[in-house]
Amino acid sequence: MSQKIAFITGGNRGLGFQTALELKQIGAKVVIGSRDLAQGEQAVGKLRAAGVDADVLEFDITKAEDAKGAYEYFNTRYGRLDILVNNAGVAAGTFPGTGPEHSAGGVPEETLRRVFETNFFAQVRLTNALLPLLGKSEAGRIVNLSSILGSLKLQADPQSPIYHAKSFAYDASKTALNAYTIHLAYELRDTKIKVNSAHPGWVKTDMGGEQAPMELSEGGKTSAALATLADDGPSGGFFHQGKPLPW
Ligand SMILES: NC(=O)c1ccc[n+]([C@@H]2O[C@H](COP(=O)([O-])OP(=O)(O)OC[C@H]3O[C@@H](n4cnc5c(N)ncnc54)[C@H](OP(=O)(O)O)[C@@H]3O)[C@@H](O)[C@H]2O)c1
Repeated sequence: MSQKIAFITGGNRGLGFQTALELKQIGAKVVIGSRDLAQGEQAVGKLRAAGVDADVLEFDITKAEDAKGAYEYFNTRYGRLDILVNNAGVAAGTFPGTGPEHSAGGVPEETLRRVFETNFFAQVRLTNALLPLLGKSEAGRIVNLSSILGSLKLQADPQSPIYHAKSFAYDASKTALNAYTIHLAYELRDTKIKVNSAHPGWVKTDMGGEQAPMELSEGGKTSAALATLADDGPSGGFFHQGKPLPW
């Protein structure tokens, strides 16, 4: 079987880096996207030292030309893409928090647009740009890094553990990303491509913060599992550690 080719956006640190480490299990060629090339090269050094066949692509998901550049990169080198992990993302301000950037009634429009630009519009643009290459894979897999905070059912339920964890701009951007997962999976239902949303857990990263209960070493597992689903695996779902989450 030929080596799987994977692209993980925001792979220079945090969950993206951890997911790259996890993909060593399948011996994949893992290309990490990094806004800062020097940081990306440092991360690649660590990944290679850990036995991952890694490379870096300078990549900012908010730049339309970088989505085209990613298409050119994979098309020229490999003529296909097997795994796309849409991991790059931003929170609104400190997280968790109570500032106006977290408030539905007080969020500055600029904040809402900035968070949606990265966490939603840019994810759709990149994925759609790479779909022709994923279509050339024997088993294309798309993983959209969502969050349990994007679950409308759990956000609306006073009994749910996240009822009071409300950060409007971030949560709504992940809800929108979940809608993309459902719609894209529907369109791709007769193809070999599977697309799912992942909740990695609340994980100790720069975004998750120190109070997060999950260690980084556990945080890449959900993304990696969805990136390596068998042919009879699910598509169009929302998962945390193999268990479905409500939309
Ligand atoms: N940590 C958690 O508890 C948690 C829970 C649920 C979901 N998530 C999701 O998991 C994903 C990764 O989170 P994390 O905790 O690893 O966050 P993180 O530690 O803040 O890392 C975010 C990564 O995204 C990259 N990034 C941000 N904006 C970018 C852009 N415009 N273009 C390209 N890359 C960009 C960052 O690159 P730079 O280094 O250049 O900034 C960094 O590599 C996010 O989508 C997040 O929403 C995290």
